[in-house]
Amino acid sequence: MIFQHAYNIEDLRTIARQRLPRIAYDFLEGGAEEGSTLRANRAAFDRIRFVPRTLVDVSRRSQKKAVFGREFDGPFGIAPTGAAGLYCFEADLALARAARRANLPFVLSTASFIEMERVAREGTAGLWFQLYMSKDREAAERLVRRALDSGYEALVLTTDIPVAGNREYNRRNRFEIPFRLDLANMLDGLLHPRWLAGVFFRTLLSSGIPRFQNLDSNVGGRIVSKTLTEFRTRREALNWEDFDWLRRLWPGKLLVKGILTVEDARLAAQHGADGIFVSNHGGRQLDGAPSPIEVLPEIAAAVGDRLPIMADSGFRRGTDIVKALALGADMVFVGRPTLYGAVAGGESGVLRALELLNGEVDRVLALLGATSLDALGPQCVRLDEARPAAVSGRRMDQKQG
Ligand SMILES: Cc1cc2nc3c(=O)[nH]c(=O)nc-3n(C[C@H](O)[C@H](O)[C@H](O)COP(=O)(O)O)c2cc1C
Repeated sequence: MIFQHAYNIEDLRTIARQRLPRIAYDFLEGGAEEGSTLRANRAAFDRIRFVPRTLVDVSRRSQKKAVFGREFDGPFGIAPTGAAGLYCFEADLALARAARRANLPFVLSTASFIEMERVAREGTAGLWFQLYMSKDREAAERLVRRALDSGYEALVLTTDIPVAGNREYNRRNRFEIPFRLDLANMLDGLLHPRWLAGVFFRTLLSSGIPRFQNLDSNVGGRIVSKTLTEFRTRREALNWEDFDWLRRLWPGKLLVKGILTVEDARLAAQHGADGIFVSNHGGRQLDGAPSPIEVLPEIAAAVGDRLPIMADSGFRRGTDIVKALALGADMVFVGRPTLYGAVAGGESGVLRALELLNGEVDRVLALLGATSLDALGPQCVRLDEARPAAVSGRRMDQKQG
Protein backbone atom coordinates (compact mmCIF):
# COMPACT_ATOMS: atom_id res chain seq x y z
CA MET A 1 0.00 0.00 0.00
CA ILE A 2 1.12 3.59 -0.60
CA PHE A 3 0.19 6.45 1.69
CA GLN A 4 -2.08 8.05 -0.91
CA HIS A 5 -4.25 4.94 -0.52
CA ALA A 6 -4.35 5.15 3.26
CA TYR A 7 -7.90 6.02 4.29
CA ASN A 8 -7.31 6.15 8.02
CA ILE A 9 -4.51 6.12 10.57
CA GLU A 10 -4.69 2.34 10.84
CA ASP A 11 -3.81 2.08 7.12
CA LEU A 12 -0.73 4.22 7.75
CA ARG A 13 0.19 1.97 10.65
CA THR A 14 -0.02 -1.07 8.36
CA ILE A 15 2.47 0.56 6.00
CA ALA A 16 4.78 1.42 8.91
CA ARG A 17 4.69 -2.16 10.18
CA GLN A 18 5.66 -3.49 6.76
CA ARG A 19 8.48 -1.04 6.16
CA LEU A 20 10.25 -0.88 9.50
CA PRO A 21 12.74 -3.34 10.97
CA ARG A 22 11.66 -4.79 14.29
CA ILE A 23 13.98 -2.61 16.41
CA ALA A 24 12.41 0.59 15.04
CA TYR A 25 8.81 -0.66 14.89
CA ASP A 26 8.85 -2.01 18.46
CA PHE A 27 10.22 1.28 19.78
CA LEU A 28 7.48 3.17 17.96
CA GLU A 29 4.58 0.94 18.77
CA GLY A 30 5.28 -0.58 22.13
CA GLY A 31 3.93 0.24 25.57
CA ALA A 32 5.32 -0.52 29.01
CA GLU A 33 5.28 -3.99 30.57
CA GLU A 34 1.97 -5.81 29.89
CA GLY A 35 0.63 -3.07 27.63
CA SER A 36 -2.49 -2.69 29.75
CA THR A 37 -2.50 1.11 29.60
CA LEU A 38 -1.65 0.99 25.90
CA ARG A 39 -4.76 -1.13 25.25
CA ALA A 40 -6.93 0.84 27.67
CA ASN A 41 -6.10 4.05 25.79
CA ARG A 42 -8.03 2.70 22.81
CA ALA A 43 -10.73 0.80 24.71
CA ALA A 44 -11.69 3.88 26.75
CA PHE A 45 -13.13 5.58 23.65
CA ASP A 46 -15.52 2.68 23.02
CA ARG A 47 -17.28 3.33 26.30
CA ILE A 48 -18.32 6.80 25.26
CA ARG A 49 -21.23 7.27 22.88
CA PHE A 50 -22.31 10.42 21.11
CA VAL A 51 -25.61 12.22 21.54
CA PRO A 52 -26.16 13.44 17.96
CA ARG A 53 -28.69 16.18 17.20
CA THR A 54 -30.56 16.27 13.94
CA LEU A 55 -32.10 18.85 11.60
CA VAL A 56 -29.43 21.35 12.50
CA ASP A 57 -28.05 23.44 9.64
CA VAL A 58 -24.41 22.33 9.53
CA SER A 59 -23.68 23.62 6.03
CA ARG A 60 -21.25 26.17 7.48
CA ARG A 61 -19.00 24.63 10.06
CA SER A 62 -15.51 25.25 11.36
CA GLN A 63 -12.96 23.36 13.43
CA LYS A 64 -10.68 26.35 13.92
CA LYS A 65 -9.22 26.56 17.38
CA ALA A 66 -7.42 29.43 19.08
CA VAL A 67 -4.79 28.62 21.70
CA PHE A 68 -2.25 31.01 23.20
CA GLY A 69 -3.24 33.75 20.78
CA ARG A 70 -2.90 31.69 17.61
CA GLU A 71 -5.66 30.28 15.49
CA PHE A 72 -5.08 26.75 14.22
CA ASP A 73 -6.95 24.90 11.47
CA GLY A 74 -7.95 22.08 13.78
CA PRO A 75 -8.21 21.15 17.44
CA PHE A 76 -5.15 18.90 17.39
CA GLY A 77 -1.39 18.93 16.94
CA ILE A 78 1.74 16.79 16.84
CA ALA A 79 3.06 15.52 20.19
CA PRO A 80 6.81 15.38 20.88
CA THR A 81 8.45 12.13 19.82
CA GLY A 82 12.11 11.45 20.47
CA ALA A 83 14.25 9.52 17.99
CA ALA A 84 11.73 10.33 15.25
CA GLY A 85 14.68 10.29 12.84
CA LEU A 86 14.40 6.50 12.86
CA TYR A 87 11.15 6.79 10.93
CA CYS A 88 12.08 8.92 7.94
CA PHE A 89 15.05 10.98 6.86
CA GLU A 90 15.16 14.18 8.96
CA ALA A 91 11.77 13.34 10.43
CA ASP A 92 11.69 16.31 12.80
CA LEU A 93 11.84 18.64 9.80
CA ALA A 94 9.18 16.62 7.98
CA LEU A 95 6.89 16.85 11.02
CA ALA A 96 7.48 20.60 11.41
CA ARG A 97 6.89 21.29 7.71
CA ALA A 98 3.72 19.23 7.56
CA ALA A 99 2.41 20.97 10.70
CA ARG A 100 3.14 24.32 9.08
CA ARG A 101 1.29 23.35 5.90
CA ALA A 102 -1.69 22.12 7.94
CA ASN A 103 -1.52 25.14 10.29
CA LEU A 104 -1.37 22.95 13.38
CA PRO A 105 1.02 23.07 16.37
CA PHE A 106 4.11 20.88 16.53
CA VAL A 107 6.07 20.06 19.67
CA LEU A 108 9.75 19.25 19.06
CA SER A 109 11.20 16.67 21.46
CA THR A 110 14.38 17.29 23.44
CA ALA A 111 15.36 13.84 22.16
CA SER A 112 15.26 14.82 18.47
CA PHE A 113 18.08 13.99 16.08
CA ILE A 114 18.02 17.51 14.60
CA GLU A 115 19.17 20.70 16.31
CA MET A 116 16.26 22.73 17.58
CA GLU A 117 17.62 25.83 15.80
CA ARG A 118 17.35 24.12 12.43
CA VAL A 119 13.77 23.02 13.09
CA ALA A 120 12.89 26.54 14.22
CA ARG A 121 14.11 27.95 10.92
CA GLU A 122 11.19 26.14 9.26
CA GLY A 123 9.10 29.02 10.59
CA THR A 124 6.28 26.84 11.84
CA ALA A 125 3.63 28.91 13.60
CA GLY A 126 2.87 27.32 16.92
CA LEU A 127 6.28 25.71 17.33
CA TRP A 128 6.69 24.39 20.86
CA PHE A 129 9.69 22.75 22.51
CA GLN A 130 9.38 19.75 24.84
CA LEU A 131 11.88 19.78 27.65
CA TYR A 132 13.41 16.81 29.41
CA MET A 133 14.98 18.48 32.39
CA SER A 134 17.28 17.10 35.01
CA LYS A 135 18.34 18.53 38.36
CA ASP A 136 21.35 19.96 36.57
CA ARG A 137 20.09 23.51 36.20
CA GLU A 138 23.06 24.71 34.17
CA ALA A 139 22.35 22.17 31.47
CA ALA A 140 18.64 22.93 31.60
CA GLU A 141 19.28 26.65 31.37
CA ARG A 142 21.48 26.21 28.29
CA LEU A 143 18.70 24.27 26.61
CA VAL A 144 15.97 26.71 27.63
CA ARG A 145 17.98 29.70 26.39
CA ARG A 146 18.52 28.00 23.05
CA ALA A 147 14.77 27.43 22.78
CA LEU A 148 14.10 31.05 23.66
CA ASP A 149 16.70 32.41 21.23
CA SER A 150 15.36 30.29 18.40
CA GLY A 151 11.82 31.55 18.88
CA TYR A 152 9.92 28.63 20.38
CA GLU A 153 6.60 29.95 21.63
CA ALA A 154 5.89 27.42 24.36
CA LEU A 155 7.87 25.07 26.53
CA VAL A 156 6.38 21.71 27.48
CA LEU A 157 8.01 20.12 30.52
CA THR A 158 7.55 16.35 30.48
CA THR A 159 7.21 15.11 34.03
CA ASP A 160 6.06 11.50 33.74
CA ILE A 161 9.50 10.06 33.18
CA PRO A 162 11.46 10.24 36.46
CA VAL A 163 12.76 6.86 35.33
CA ALA A 164 12.35 5.19 31.96
CA GLY A 165 9.29 2.99 31.53
CA ASN A 166 9.92 -0.74 31.50
CA ARG A 167 10.01 -1.61 27.81
CA GLU A 168 11.59 -5.03 27.63
CA TYR A 169 11.44 -5.29 23.85
CA ASN A 170 13.97 -2.45 23.61
CA ARG A 171 16.45 -4.41 25.70
CA ARG A 172 15.72 -7.59 23.79
CA ASN A 173 16.27 -5.74 20.49
CA ARG A 174 19.39 -4.01 21.90
CA PHE A 175 17.88 -0.61 21.15
CA GLU A 176 20.21 2.20 22.17
CA ILE A 177 21.04 5.80 21.26
CA PRO A 178 23.47 6.69 19.69
CA PHE A 179 21.80 4.21 17.39
CA ARG A 180 23.79 1.26 16.15
CA LEU A 181 23.04 -1.79 14.10
CA ASP A 182 24.43 -5.06 15.45
CA LEU A 183 24.50 -8.19 13.31
CA ALA A 184 20.92 -9.29 14.07
CA ASN A 185 19.58 -5.80 13.46
CA MET A 186 21.69 -5.42 10.34
CA LEU A 187 20.18 -8.63 8.93
CA ASP A 188 16.70 -7.37 9.76
CA GLY A 189 17.66 -4.06 8.14
CA LEU A 190 18.62 -5.94 4.96
CA LEU A 191 15.09 -7.33 4.87
CA HIS A 192 13.84 -3.73 4.93
CA PRO A 193 16.07 -2.17 2.25
CA ARG A 194 13.90 0.93 1.79
CA TRP A 195 14.44 1.83 5.45
CA LEU A 196 18.11 0.82 5.49
CA ALA A 197 19.00 2.93 2.46
CA GLY A 198 16.46 5.72 2.72
CA VAL A 199 16.60 6.36 6.44
CA PHE A 200 19.56 4.74 8.15
CA PHE A 201 22.35 5.10 5.58
CA ARG A 202 21.04 8.45 4.35
CA THR A 203 21.19 9.80 7.90
CA LEU A 204 24.62 8.24 8.40
CA LEU A 205 25.96 9.95 5.27
CA SER A 206 24.45 13.34 6.03
CA SER A 207 24.95 13.73 9.77
CA GLY A 208 26.66 10.62 11.09
CA ILE A 209 25.31 8.02 13.52
CA PRO A 210 21.74 8.98 14.53
CA ARG A 211 22.02 10.66 17.93
CA PHE A 212 20.42 13.32 20.12
CA GLN A 213 21.40 16.83 19.10
CA ASN A 214 19.74 18.84 21.83
CA LEU A 215 20.38 17.14 25.12
CA ASP A 216 23.35 19.30 25.96
CA SER A 217 25.09 21.77 23.69
CA ASN A 218 28.20 21.41 25.83
CA VAL A 219 28.99 18.01 24.45
CA GLY A 220 28.19 19.11 20.91
CA GLY A 221 25.47 16.54 20.57
CA ARG A 222 27.81 13.68 21.36
CA ILE A 223 26.01 12.10 24.25
CA VAL A 224 28.63 10.04 25.93
CA SER A 225 27.17 7.40 28.19
CA LYS A 226 28.48 9.10 31.35
CA THR A 227 26.52 12.26 30.51
CA LEU A 228 23.40 10.27 29.84
CA THR A 229 23.67 8.35 33.10
CA GLU A 230 24.18 11.55 35.09
CA PHE A 231 21.27 13.15 33.32
CA ARG A 232 19.02 10.24 34.23
CA THR A 233 20.04 10.22 37.90
CA ARG A 234 19.38 13.90 38.25
CA ARG A 235 16.04 13.62 36.53
CA GLU A 236 14.73 11.34 39.30
CA ALA A 237 15.09 14.16 41.82
CA LEU A 238 13.03 16.72 39.92
CA ASN A 239 10.19 18.38 41.89
CA TRP A 240 7.87 21.43 41.93
CA GLU A 241 10.71 23.67 43.17
CA ASP A 242 12.53 22.97 39.93
CA PHE A 243 9.34 23.83 38.11
CA ASP A 244 9.23 27.18 39.96
CA TRP A 245 12.80 27.83 38.87
CA LEU A 246 11.86 27.04 35.27
CA ARG A 247 8.82 29.30 35.55
CA ARG A 248 11.08 32.20 36.51
CA LEU A 249 13.47 31.42 33.66
CA TRP A 250 10.98 30.94 30.81
CA PRO A 251 8.97 34.03 29.86
CA GLY A 252 6.76 32.26 27.29
CA LYS A 253 3.95 29.78 27.72
CA LEU A 254 4.87 26.89 29.99
CA LEU A 255 3.02 23.59 30.07
CA VAL A 256 3.32 20.47 32.22
CA LYS A 257 3.03 17.17 30.34
CA GLY A 258 2.08 14.00 32.15
CA ILE A 259 -0.75 15.14 34.42
CA LEU A 260 -3.29 12.44 35.36
CA THR A 261 -4.83 13.68 38.62
CA VAL A 262 -6.88 16.63 39.79
CA GLU A 263 -4.31 17.27 42.54
CA ASP A 264 -1.43 17.66 40.08
CA ALA A 265 -3.55 19.75 37.71
CA ARG A 266 -4.28 22.13 40.60
CA LEU A 267 -0.61 22.21 41.58
CA ALA A 268 0.34 23.07 38.01
CA ALA A 269 -2.10 26.00 38.07
CA GLN A 270 -0.85 27.15 41.48
CA HIS A 271 2.77 27.04 40.32
CA GLY A 272 2.03 29.27 37.35
CA ALA A 273 1.74 26.81 34.45
CA ASP A 274 -0.04 28.16 31.38
CA GLY A 275 -1.43 24.78 30.36
CA ILE A 276 -1.27 21.04 30.98
CA PHE A 277 -1.02 17.88 28.94
CA VAL A 278 -3.26 15.16 30.34
CA SER A 279 -1.19 12.24 29.11
CA ASN A 280 0.10 8.80 30.03
CA HIS A 281 2.93 9.08 27.48
CA GLY A 282 1.10 6.84 25.03
CA GLY A 283 1.11 3.94 27.51
CA ARG A 284 4.91 3.88 27.52
CA GLN A 285 5.57 4.74 31.15
CA LEU A 286 3.47 3.50 34.11
CA ASP A 287 1.56 0.41 33.06
CA GLY A 288 -1.82 0.66 34.77
CA ALA A 289 -1.97 4.45 34.58
CA PRO A 290 -5.45 5.75 33.64
CA SER A 291 -6.30 6.93 30.15
CA PRO A 292 -6.66 10.68 29.60
CA ILE A 293 -10.28 10.34 28.54
CA GLU A 294 -11.11 8.72 31.91
CA VAL A 295 -9.71 11.55 34.01
CA LEU A 296 -10.44 14.49 31.71
CA PRO A 297 -13.90 15.33 33.09
CA GLU A 298 -12.70 15.70 36.68
CA ILE A 299 -9.54 17.57 35.67
CA ALA A 300 -11.54 19.90 33.43
CA ALA A 301 -14.01 20.52 36.25
CA ALA A 302 -11.12 21.45 38.57
CA VAL A 303 -8.90 23.65 36.36
CA GLY A 304 -10.63 23.99 32.98
CA ASP A 305 -11.59 27.60 33.64
CA ARG A 306 -7.98 28.52 34.49
CA LEU A 307 -5.80 26.49 32.10
CA PRO A 308 -5.98 25.19 28.54
CA ILE A 309 -6.05 21.39 28.70
CA MET A 310 -4.24 19.32 26.08
CA ALA A 311 -4.85 15.59 25.93
CA ASP A 312 -2.82 12.85 24.27
CA SER A 313 -2.43 9.05 24.31
CA GLY A 314 -4.34 6.73 22.03
CA PHE A 315 -6.10 9.21 19.71
CA ARG A 316 -6.52 7.70 16.23
CA ARG A 317 -9.82 9.04 14.90
CA GLY A 318 -11.75 12.27 14.60
CA THR A 319 -14.37 10.68 16.84
CA ASP A 320 -11.73 10.21 19.58
CA ILE A 321 -10.71 13.86 19.29
CA VAL A 322 -14.28 15.16 19.44
CA LYS A 323 -15.06 12.96 22.47
CA ALA A 324 -12.12 14.48 24.34
CA LEU A 325 -13.15 18.02 23.40
CA ALA A 326 -16.69 17.29 24.62
CA LEU A 327 -15.24 16.11 27.92
CA GLY A 328 -13.18 19.21 28.53
CA ALA A 329 -9.98 19.09 26.44
CA ASP A 330 -9.02 22.22 24.50
CA MET A 331 -6.74 20.38 22.12
CA VAL A 332 -5.61 16.83 21.40
CA PHE A 333 -2.11 15.74 20.40
CA VAL A 334 -1.04 12.64 18.51
CA GLY A 335 2.33 10.88 18.72
CA ARG A 336 2.37 7.62 16.77
CA PRO A 337 -0.15 8.55 14.01
CA THR A 338 2.10 11.20 12.48
CA LEU A 339 5.13 8.92 12.80
CA TYR A 340 3.24 6.24 10.84
CA GLY A 341 2.71 8.96 8.25
CA ALA A 342 6.41 9.82 8.32
CA VAL A 343 7.34 6.19 7.60
CA ALA A 344 4.75 5.93 4.85
CA GLY A 345 5.59 9.13 2.98
CA GLY A 346 7.90 11.54 4.80
CA GLU A 347 6.49 15.07 4.99
CA SER A 348 3.62 14.20 2.61
CA GLY A 349 2.79 11.14 4.69
CA VAL A 350 2.64 13.24 7.86
CA LEU A 351 0.40 15.70 6.04
CA ARG A 352 -1.79 12.81 4.96
CA ALA A 353 -2.22 11.77 8.61
CA LEU A 354 -3.17 15.33 9.59
CA GLU A 355 -5.58 15.70 6.67
CA LEU A 356 -7.27 12.40 7.51
CA LEU A 357 -7.85 13.61 11.06
CA ASN A 358 -9.06 17.05 9.86
CA GLY A 359 -11.51 15.34 7.53
CA GLU A 360 -12.79 13.03 10.24
CA VAL A 361 -13.27 15.83 12.77
CA ASP A 362 -15.22 17.81 10.18
CA ARG A 363 -17.51 14.87 9.44
CA VAL A 364 -18.10 14.13 13.14
CA LEU A 365 -19.08 17.76 13.77
CA ALA A 366 -21.64 17.59 10.97
CA LEU A 367 -23.06 14.26 12.11
CA LEU A 368 -23.29 15.51 15.67
CA GLY A 369 -25.16 18.65 14.60
CA ALA A 370 -22.36 20.96 15.73
CA THR A 371 -21.18 23.87 13.58
CA SER A 372 -18.14 24.77 15.69
CA LEU A 373 -16.02 23.44 18.51
CA ASP A 374 -17.80 25.82 20.89
CA ALA A 375 -20.93 23.71 20.51
CA LEU A 376 -19.16 20.72 22.07
CA GLY A 377 -19.71 19.87 25.73
CA PRO A 378 -20.68 17.02 28.03
CA GLN A 379 -24.20 17.11 26.58
CA CYS A 380 -22.72 15.65 23.35
CA VAL A 381 -21.64 12.34 24.93
CA ARG A 382 -22.89 9.70 27.32
CA LEU A 383 -21.46 6.58 28.84
CA ASP A 384 -22.21 3.26 27.28
CA GLU A 385 -23.66 1.60 30.37
CA ALA A 386 -23.23 -1.85 28.84
CA ARG A 387 -19.50 -1.49 29.26
CA PRO A 388 -17.49 -1.07 32.44
CA ALA A 389 -17.59 2.59 33.39
CA ALA A 390 -14.57 4.61 32.36
CA VAL A 391 -16.00 7.96 33.32
CA SER A 392 -18.56 8.07 36.07
CA GLY A 393 -21.81 9.95 35.46
CA ARG A 394 -21.04 11.95 38.58
CA ARG A 395 -17.90 13.32 37.02
CA MET A 396 -19.73 14.39 33.88
CA ASP A 397 -22.43 16.05 36.01
CA GLN A 398 -19.73 17.92 37.88
CA LYS A 399 -18.35 19.24 34.62
CA GLN A 400 -21.84 20.28 33.49
CA GLY A 401 -22.37 22.14 36.73
C1 LIG B 1 8.38 6.92 19.51
C2 LIG B 1 7.88 7.84 20.60
C3 LIG B 1 8.77 8.72 21.19
C4 LIG B 1 8.32 9.60 22.18
N1 LIG B 1 9.20 10.51 22.70
C5 LIG B 1 8.75 11.45 23.57
C6 LIG B 1 9.61 12.48 24.01
O1 LIG B 1 10.76 12.58 23.61
N2 LIG B 1 9.11 13.38 24.90
C7 LIG B 1 7.82 13.32 25.37
O2 LIG B 1 7.41 14.16 26.17
N3 LIG B 1 6.98 12.35 24.95
C8 LIG B 1 7.41 11.43 24.06
N4 LIG B 1 6.54 10.47 23.59
C9 LIG B 1 5.14 10.50 24.03
C10 LIG B 1 4.30 11.40 23.12
O3 LIG B 1 4.64 12.75 23.30
C11 LIG B 1 2.80 11.26 23.43
O4 LIG B 1 2.57 11.47 24.80
C12 LIG B 1 2.26 9.90 23.02
O5 LIG B 1 2.91 9.39 21.88
C13 LIG B 1 0.78 10.01 22.74
O6 LIG B 1 0.24 8.78 22.48
P1 LIG B 1 -0.04 8.22 21.00
O7 LIG B 1 1.28 7.82 20.44
O8 LIG B 1 -0.93 7.06 21.25
O9 LIG B 1 -0.68 9.32 20.21
C14 LIG B 1 6.97 9.58 22.61
C15 LIG B 1 6.09 8.67 22.01
C16 LIG B 1 6.53 7.82 21.01
C17 LIG B 1 5.53 6.89 20.37
